[in-house]
Parts: sequence; structure tokens; C-alpha cells
Amino acid sequence: LRSRFLKKNRTKIHFYDSVPAAKKFAPSQSLLIYDKVLLKNSSFRKFKKFFKQSYAVQSGEGLKSLSKFSYHVEKILEMTSQLQKPIRIVAAGGGSVGDFSGFLASTIKRGVDLVHVPTTWLAAIDSAHGGKTALNVKGYKNQIGSFHPAKEIFLIKSFLQSQNQKQIDDALGEVLKVSMLAGGRLFKKTSQLEAWGPDDLWKLLPELIKAKYAIVDKDPLEKIGIRHLLNLGHTVGHLVETQAKMSHGTAVMYGLGFSLQWSLKEKILQNQKNYFWRNSFLYSQIPNGPKLAKVLKRLKNSKKYLSQDKKMTGSNKVRFIFLIAPGKPKIKSVDVRSIEKEIQRQSHVI
Ligand SMILES: NC(=O)c1ccc[n+]([C@@H]2O[C@H](COP(=O)([O-])OP(=O)(O)OC[C@H]3O[C@@H](n4cnc5c(N)ncnc54)[C@H](O)[C@@H]3O)[C@@H](O)[C@H]2O)c1
Ligand SMILES: [Zn+2]
Repeated sequence: LRSRFLKKNRTKIHFYDSVPAAKKFAPSQSLLIYDKVLLKNSSFRKFKKFFKQSYAVQSGEGLKSLSKFSYHVEKILEMTSQLQKPIRIVAAGGGSVGDFSGFLASTIKRGVDLVHVPTTWLAAIDSAHGGKTALNVKGYKNQIGSFHPAKEIFLIKSFLQSQNQKQIDDALGEVLKVSMLAGGRLFKKTSQLEAWGPDDLWKLLPELIKAKYAIVDKDPLEKIGIRHLLNLGHTVGHLVETQAKMSHGTAVMYGLGFSLQWSLKEKILQNQKNYFWRNSFLYSQIPNGPKLAKVLKRLKNSKKYLSQDKKMTGSNKVRFIFLIAPGKPKIKSVDVRSIEKEIQRQSHVI
């Protein structure tokens, strides 16, 4: 069954330095959903002209809000009634646009084809791949969703280049997450990098993506637990994102810091033997000590939030991802109470 799913849904991934020819996007049958900030990008404006029908959205968690979903659906249905063939959705934007458009594509007219054109590094590395779509409910992230892998993904360098340094930094959490999960060559490369910028990211992109698919392909529908590994740093990361109001990428860096500190405390990760890379240029940016403590102190209501978290396994247990060493993660079912206790402990580190 798994191999059928994979065969049927194999996503084609393309890399381009600038906008490829219009026909690649079947623009006459497609509705383009795009982040309106992209209008500032000249290369994107050229791309947008391919499409007869397009729908601009404001990015962010608000776009993923369930309560606003019917508003968008009504607008889009009005618009797409003019398309003759079944519509195909081309989503251009960051992870919020991708999650929203993916959910829309999986439900509108009982499901239409989806093409992702990720325009943030975070989306290019992570959220466009693997087929997860999501909406938020009452401030809880990703409570509703589906698996709807894109038929094709276009990674276009000239779209990604309009991001500022903060947005480049925002990708770091997912880069380090997937490198720590993968270990091997990718981990070696990231731990040896001494610069961090768009060119480094563009070069690393194929390997980062491959590392995500190596996990997703073993458990595409998150049925056997392997895919949970991708939640490394995300249990507490999501708490930080919603309560300390940080961007997803930055919050994941704090979540990774928390997971590493907990792994050390439990002696799952050993300081000398398995954590020698902590001082490398990129990995030393994972918060620890007072910087991490200051943010963890701001977390309130963590129990309520964690209980709502999608990684719950039943009776107040959460599958938490620890790290033994790069390339060797460990999934452990832990009590919500013990996460709270560990948040307390790490909040008081001086
Ligand atoms: N589906 C998944 O597997 C998955 C995985 C990871 C994260 N996510 C989701 O992705 C979201 C975070 O992703 P994100 O940070 O890309 O979100 P985002 O869509 O909010 O984009 C971040 C910011 O970048 C701007 N932007 C987008 N493209 C740009 C460009 N080319 N130049 C300049 N600015 C640009 C946006 O307008 C926004 O202000 C969260 O909602 C998270 O839950 C989903
Ligand atoms: Zn993430």
C-alpha cells in the first residue's frame, strides 16, 4: 500500500535560477494563489502574468485560520467557475500560503492537483515537501489538515532571493533539524559551514530536501511513527511560536535548544562523545543557557497547549524526539507533566 501511495503521488521537483517557460505551469487550467508581498519581486511579476486567474493573500497564521476559510473558498469558487477544465492550484508563497493552499486543493471540488512554488527558504526546505496541509483552530496550530502532496514543486532562486537576513535566519531551525536527523554527509557539511547566506542555502537545498523525503517516504501518512521524527524541536517550538509570538523558524531554534538540553539531562545525548559539534558555527546558534531560559520563562498554559498538540499518543502522553547523536534520534512517549517540569527546570538555568 505504501509503495502504491508513493508511486501514485511521487512529486516532481524542479530547480531553476529564474522563471521557466509558462507552459510548465499549465496556466490556462490553473489558479495561482500567491502571497501579495511577492508583487515586489520583479521576477515574480513576470511569472504572475502567465496566469489568467490569480488570488492574492496576506501571509501568516491568520490565513490558516479555520474561521476565515469559508470567506476564501467563496471568493475562489466565484473566480474559478470561469475555468473550463478542473482547476489546478499553483501556490506561490511561504509555509502559510502553502498550508492554506494545500488544504484548499485537497478539499475544493473534492480535491484538485497542487503545485508548490515555495518562496521562503523555510518553505523551500521544509513545508512544501511531504504533503501536509493545515489550518489553525482557535489559535491552536495545525488542528485540521490533510495529506495532499504536490504533483510538482518549482524551486526558483530568483523568487527566494528577495528575502531579508531575518528570513534567511528563519530557515536555520529546519536546516539544523533535518541535518541532525539525517547525520552523515549532510550533518558534516552543516557542521563545517562557516558562512550562512542565500548561496549556501541554495547549494544545500537538494540535500536538505532529500533528507526530508528519506523520512517522509518511509511513513508518508504518519501511520507508523517514523514521520514523527520531523517533529524534533517542534513540541516546545510550537509553544514558543504561539506564546512568545516568534516566527516558526526562530521558535524551532528554541525548541531544538530545549530538546538538546533535555537529551543531555537524560544522558541520551552525551556531552563529550556525541555533542562535540555544539560549538560549530551554525550549531552554536541554537539557544541554550540564559537565552533559552528567558524565553522558556514566558511560556504559560503549556499543559493546555501540549494536551491539544497533534503528537499526543493518548492519556496525556506526547511523542517527544530526543537525540542520541547526529543521525540517531530517539522517540520517547513522555508525560505532558514531565515536559512542563523540564520547561521549569530549563527556565531556571543561570
Ligand atoms: N506543511 C508542513 O509540512 C510545514 C512544515 C513547516 C512549517 N509549516 C508552516 O509554515 C509556516 C511558516 O512558514 P514561513 O515562515 O514560510 O511562513 P510565511 O508564509 O508566513 O512567510 C514568512 C514571511 O515571508 C514573507 N515572504 C514570502 N516570500 C517572500 C519572498 N520571496 N521575499 C520576501 N518575503 C517573502 C511572507 O509574506 C511572510 O511575511 C507556519 O505556518 C508553519 O506551521 C508547515
Ligand atoms: Zn517546522
